Amino acid sequence: MSILSSPISGKQSESKLKLYDQLELQLSSLLAGERDLIANAANFASLIFHTLSELNWAGCYFLKNGELVLGPFQGRPACVRIALGQGVCGTAAANCMTTIVPNVHEFSGHIACDSASNSEIVVPLMKGKRLIGVLDLDSPVIGRFDDEDALGLNRLVSVLVESSEF
Ligand code: SME
Repeated sequence: MSILSSPISGKQSESKLKLYDQLELQLSSLLAGERDLIANAANFASLIFHTLSELNWAGCYFLKNGELVLGPFQGRPACVRIALGQGVCGTAAANCMTTIVPNVHEFSGHIACDSASNSEIVVPLMKGKRLIGVLDLDSPVIGRFDDEDALGLNRLVSVLVESSEF
């Protein structure tokens, strides 16, 4: 739960930081001049899915009438509605906290949408203190996500939220 600490070598950390720096620049120019949330979330999911390694699913869920509803994504079809507090997405949303699950098979209540998924990170989309939805990334690799991903993805999510109309 929350941002778990995991050892990252200096070299790995530096290259991940550079990758997220580049992604932030790319995302800012990709979303520039467009305020539509669905269009921006669609390009956001595509950019992440095709740039970050070892992902099998990347996309957003948006908060609608008290539950998370599937938004734009890349990957296999996924469950459409998730209650707050359910699964990794609903837990991250209920706590408004970035949540890293190194092994989804050890997370009680994990909602399996794609049997290929072994690890997951969920980043809440916040407009100030208001929860808008979540970004969800799945990987077939156990332990794929670390604190550097959490920090980098939080920066990217801020670009999406600031660029879009709610
Ligand atoms: N695994 C998520 C459900 C969404 S899919 O991974 C796309 C969860 O437990 O909330």
